[in-house]
Amino acid sequence: MRKPVRIAPSILSADFARLGEEVRAIDAAGADWIHIDVMDGHFVPNITIGPAVVKALRPHTAKPFDVHLMISPVDVYLDAFAEAGADTITVHPEAGPHIHRTVQHIKGLGKRAGVVLNPGTPAKMLDYLIDMVDLVLVMSVNPGFGGQHFIDSQLRKIAAIRKMIEQSGRDIDLEVDGGVDTETARRAIEAGADALVAGTATFRGGPEHYAENIRALRGG
Ligand code: DX5
Ligand code: ZN
Repeated sequence: MRKPVRIAPSILSADFARLGEEVRAIDAAGADWIHIDVMDGHFVPNITIGPAVVKALRPHTAKPFDVHLMISPVDVYLDAFAEAGADTITVHPEAGPHIHRTVQHIKGLGKRAGVVLNPGTPAKMLDYLIDMVDLVLVMSVNPGFGGQHFIDSQLRKIAAIRKMIEQSGRDIDLEVDGGVDTETARRAIEAGADALVAGTATFRGGPEHYAENIRALRGG
């Protein structure tokens, strides 16, 4: 059974000088989850947010924090993000060294575990993880920056993973991240996605547009 589409604005596109306010604004505008992009300047060529900022944002909303870790090593920071208030912690297999152990660790912390596949990473990577993850995130851009173009080949991967999820019989969210706008949102949902990350498309035009931007991503 397909769930209603959840919208997860990426605060990477928010005004970093007013992050708490921005989180409250997207909460009020109808965001389902708050997507937090954590980058280390090593696994990806950009540096963003650490656990201290996640913790500081926690009192600003009751919505789930969808924390996307683009850091290597990753295992040593899992406890800190869990304590800071992450609800879902999503990790890249390439961040290494042992993705299965990393997912076990996240589950052991009592958090929802996500695995994220880069555009060049095959769906097959999930074969021995699908029985333990709560979320699969398909990157429709190479990770590191907001505002990039949606890579069409990922639609085929979304469809393949949708099948894997149905076959597993498990309750797993299928989320897409990168270059999501109203048009690519429609195609991603058609392919089988039920959660969409959107930075540029959410924050475009400033706070008075967040609600209509989020509504448009859901399909109007
Ligand atoms: C990219 C991040 C994305 C990014 C999406 O590495 O994982 O979450 O913020 O930004 P847009 O929606 O602008 O492509
Ligand atoms: Zn992300």
